[in-house]
Amino acid sequence: MDRLVVRGGRPLSGTVEISGAKNAVLPLMTAALMVDGETTLKRVPNLKDTRTMIRLLDIVGAGVSFDAGEMSIDGSTVNNLEAPYDLVKTMRASFYVLGPLLARFGKVRVSLPGGCAWGPRPVDFHLKGLEKLGAKITLEGGYILAEADRLKGNKICFDFPSVGATGNIVMAGVLAKGETVIENAAREPEIVQLCEALNTMGAKIDGIRTDKIIIEGVDQLHSADLDVIPDRIEAGTYLIAGAAMGDITLNYCNPKHLEVLIEKLIQAGAKIDTSENSISIKKANSINPTDVTTEVYPGFPTDLQAQWIVLMAIATGSSVVTDTVYHDRFTHIPELNRLGANIKLRDNIAIINGVDHLIGAPVMSTDIRASASLILGAIMAKGQTDISRVYHIDRGYESIEKKFQALGVDIVRKND
Ligand code: UD1
Repeated sequence: MDRLVVRGGRPLSGTVEISGAKNAVLPLMTAALMVDGETTLKRVPNLKDTRTMIRLLDIVGAGVSFDAGEMSIDGSTVNNLEAPYDLVKTMRASFYVLGPLLARFGKVRVSLPGGCAWGPRPVDFHLKGLEKLGAKITLEGGYILAEADRLKGNKICFDFPSVGATGNIVMAGVLAKGETVIENAAREPEIVQLCEALNTMGAKIDGIRTDKIIIEGVDQLHSADLDVIPDRIEAGTYLIAGAAMGDITLNYCNPKHLEVLIEKLIQAGAKIDTSENSISIKKANSINPTDVTTEVYPGFPTDLQAQWIVLMAIATGSSVVTDTVYHDRFTHIPELNRLGANIKLRDNIAIINGVDHLIGAPVMSTDIRASASLILGAIMAKGQTDISRVYHIDRGYESIEKKFQALGVDIVRKND
């Protein structure tokens, strides 16, 4: 099993190119299943999750080719309406096949995702939403079976603006008969990208970027060429590294997607310059303790909570980080404490007492973003840190050790 070995404490300098967004490309790949023809995607990140989604598309019968960041998906050959447990359990985003396949073929069988490293992560909003569109949902042998002759538009109001449920219901609504209105919809940039891509493919979606999405159903979608937006979470991770240790520039990113993080980094003492698609950051002389509460977009993203905590671990005082989106997403805290951090957890609130420096130690990845925080901790720490179970990081960060090496970090991958 691969591990990463980091000798920390070196300053970061240089430029890094941000990859296409994982959370944008996965629903775009499943949206391609709604087309009786070819969809091409550019700037597709080569990630474990992208490759898992390719396997899933292959299982359902779509033809996929992927080379040098460009992917083409042929939805005309889809012939197997099932997402098996083996894949869904390794990647929850497999659930994104539910809406598209049901809407186009009237039937789909998708394994329930089950638990994950940080909590139950239910799918009730997805299922209730599809029922509102007229689907009959049954559970058999751990699988959701959804059926409908043709979905019918309806009004759906989510209890919480779930990203995945919004994506699934938007895709289902696009091919439903009549009007679908989603209230309390997610507004994350990845949802905006999905809606705009669907419109390019012939859908009629209004209210994009608002919490009320209105869809006029169409009979079919057509082929399209799509560009994947930059990964704001990858960008945020490199920015946090820069705030602690660097003088670096991020290219091919979208500063507008990172406004709250940039504001918080400035409060913490970093110096930041932005242009339309790049961000430069210089480290803070000392890190000011800066509280953060995660919220849905445009609030501070839960996917950067773990990385923010590690920055606060070396701040000059105490700070508080609260996660209101996922209440139990804190598996990184005991690992960061192994690096000498002083972090206590009370329910969904982390209380961080800054220490002078972190010290390298063996630690273990538990999920994608927790792994990212451990790599940041290792880069900041004095001495050597061995990070095991890095397959988690490979799910969501393209070439992470190569990108950090190019910024001057002493980081190597070992397999022994
Ligand atoms: C997506 C992102 C993930 C990010 C999360 C929140 C992808 C592939 N993943 O996950 O990286 O951390 O958004 O920004 O895009 N909920 C329910 N019932 C449901 C669905 C969600 O109760 O049916 C709750 C969840 O438990 C959670 C909250 O809603 O507390 C937000 O979850 P959601 O936005 O759905 O996250 P995902 O789409 O799974």
